[in-house]
Amino acid sequence: MARLDGKVALVTGAARGIGKAIAAAMAAESARVVLTDILDVEGDATATEIRVQGGQALYVSHDVTTEDGWRTALEAANDEFGGLDVLVNNAGLFLGKPLAETSIDDMNRMLAVNVVGLMLGSKLALPFLAARASRWDGGGSIVNLSSVAGLIGASFQTVYSMTKGAVRLFSKSLAMECADLKLNIRVNSIHPGVIDTDMAVEVARGQMEARAMDADKVQRFMVGGHPLGRLGRPRDIADAAVFLASGESSFMTGTELVVDGGMTAR
Ligand SMILES: NC(=O)c1ccc[n+]([C@@H]2O[C@H](COP(=O)([O-])OP(=O)(O)OC[C@H]3O[C@@H](n4cnc5c(N)ncnc54)[C@H](O)[C@@H]3O)[C@@H](O)[C@H]2O)c1
Repeated sequence: MARLDGKVALVTGAARGIGKAIAAAMAAESARVVLTDILDVEGDATATEIRVQGGQALYVSHDVTTEDGWRTALEAANDEFGGLDVLVNNAGLFLGKPLAETSIDDMNRMLAVNVVGLMLGSKLALPFLAARASRWDGGGSIVNLSSVAGLIGASFQTVYSMTKGAVRLFSKSLAMECADLKLNIRVNSIHPGVIDTDMAVEVARGQMEARAMDADKVQRFMVGGHPLGRLGRPRDIADAAVFLASGESSFMTGTELVVDGGMTAR
């Protein structure tokens, strides 16, 4: 049997990058997947791609910073696929600049997407997840995308790191709360190293500007940060997300799954 057979998953920021890979990997394991994003053309195309490959997928336009947007997305999961078993809070923004150049607007934008969006989604999804949790070994699952930046310090991305640190402890605390309330819902965070997506291009741009490095040097700097000698692939993170969504991780909650090519083991 496929690892997510019968489950319904909602993946935010699924139009491209890591979210797209997670949605595709979950669909390949027989989950019915609601993909959400604000990039509607790409999001629709990604859902179509998954359906063409035999998966069950639906795209919903959804800005994670709004409560109404969350209600629409969750109702779509309920109406189209019968409920929700897995929430992947993946949508995120990167900000790479020295603190001296970081404005209040930058800060509020980062908090709105990376922190408030994730809090709203987790809160509003809980009743949906709880309603079906008894069906599964391991119950319902919330998977939150943090980062190595939520574990260790890194220059020229202080506010991004702040938001990813918040994701880490939000996840642990919600895991404890769900356990205390006996909701049968697990909450875990994933901490990727640099993964080869559009966001990695932004990371490189930030480092180039702040360190006055050329593109080749920044690329070597970023690859060199990973003892395994390469950047991560979206699929590396998708595999971790499928594991946390499945019953294979049924005794894991409040944990931080680090997928970073060894970066933080040094
Ligand atoms: N790529 C990396 O190196 C890396 C490393 C560590 C953690 N992460 C985290 O992984 C997640 C995915 O990153 P990625 O590399 O795929 O980035 P990406 O920029 O390729 O994709 C992010 C997606 O989120 C969507 N999004 C942004 N704001 C949104 C909003 N308000 N509402 C809904 N969707 C919104 C974007 O449209 C985009 O499709 C992020 O949370 C990121 O912080 C990425």
